[in-house]
Amino acid sequence: MLVSAKEMLTKAKAGKYAVGQFNINNLEWTKAILLTAQELNSPVILGVSEGAGKYMTGYKTVVGMVNGMLEELKITVPVALHLDHGSYEGCMKCIEAGFSSIMFDGSHYPIEENIAKTKELVKITAEKGMSLEAEVGSIGGEEDGVVGAGEVADPNECKQIADLGVTMLAAGIGNIHGKYPANWKGLDFGVLAEIQKLTGEMPLVLHGGTGIPEEMIKTAISLGVSKINVNTECQLSFAAATRKYVEAGKDLEGKGFDPRKLLAPGFEAIKATVKEKMELFGSVGKA
Ligand code: 13P
Repeated sequence: MLVSAKEMLTKAKAGKYAVGQFNINNLEWTKAILLTAQELNSPVILGVSEGAGKYMTGYKTVVGMVNGMLEELKITVPVALHLDHGSYEGCMKCIEAGFSSIMFDGSHYPIEENIAKTKELVKITAEKGMSLEAEVGSIGGEEDGVVGAGEVADPNECKQIADLGVTMLAAGIGNIHGKYPANWKGLDFGVLAEIQKLTGEMPLVLHGGTGIPEEMIKTAISLGVSKINVNTECQLSFAAATRKYVEAGKDLEGKGFDPRKLLAPGFEAIKATVKEKMELFGSVGKA
């Protein structure tokens, strides 16, 4: 059964580790992430962007697929199904479809409007027992059509949003979706420390997990980050493994063209990436 992300993140914050949110795109992604979480006895959050939801033919299909896998694969670790960077309308659709968690990304609105809309969603998600992530200060780069300027969040605005009763808070601290440019300045730990001081127990969320050096990940966790989002890195490892298979001519040998064979190396590559991240984030054995 899908669960809200509240309990797993409260435990992560207290235990000084982070739970990974891994974005899904299709059946292979979902199965690879769920099996790895079960093998490592780790809680996990499946992220679905609005674009990926559309690609998978809609949120109801996603809920059906994930619930089916939880049962058929006998997954017993805590799993949350979470809308990533949702619009207000997208949040409503996911609540209706049976997601257990949503993110409302109101970071592009003036703070008053972000507060007003987040407040409404706090009420609705509380009634449904769902978790809600809010965002202050946009994440740089682009993800599925959501483009962020990459501002560093104002800690006082973070406190205002945290006080509304959201479950977890994403704050821009110089992080970017996708690969980091060579001249990237790194995460702003001064601002993160200030946000953590003002928001106390609130689990903080680090987006743009792909390509952040290990030491920075560890420092971020020590400063209150308890959820880390990873998307591009699984895409890169899937693509590299698939490329290797095709370039070696394996799809031309026997029935190597069978999608169950063609997609197998990419599937294993996603599993390896997820394992590596869960070990780095410290969530192994924490289910
Ligand atoms: P990356 O694609 O950079 O890993 O970011 C993922 C993310 O933050 C999803 O919201």
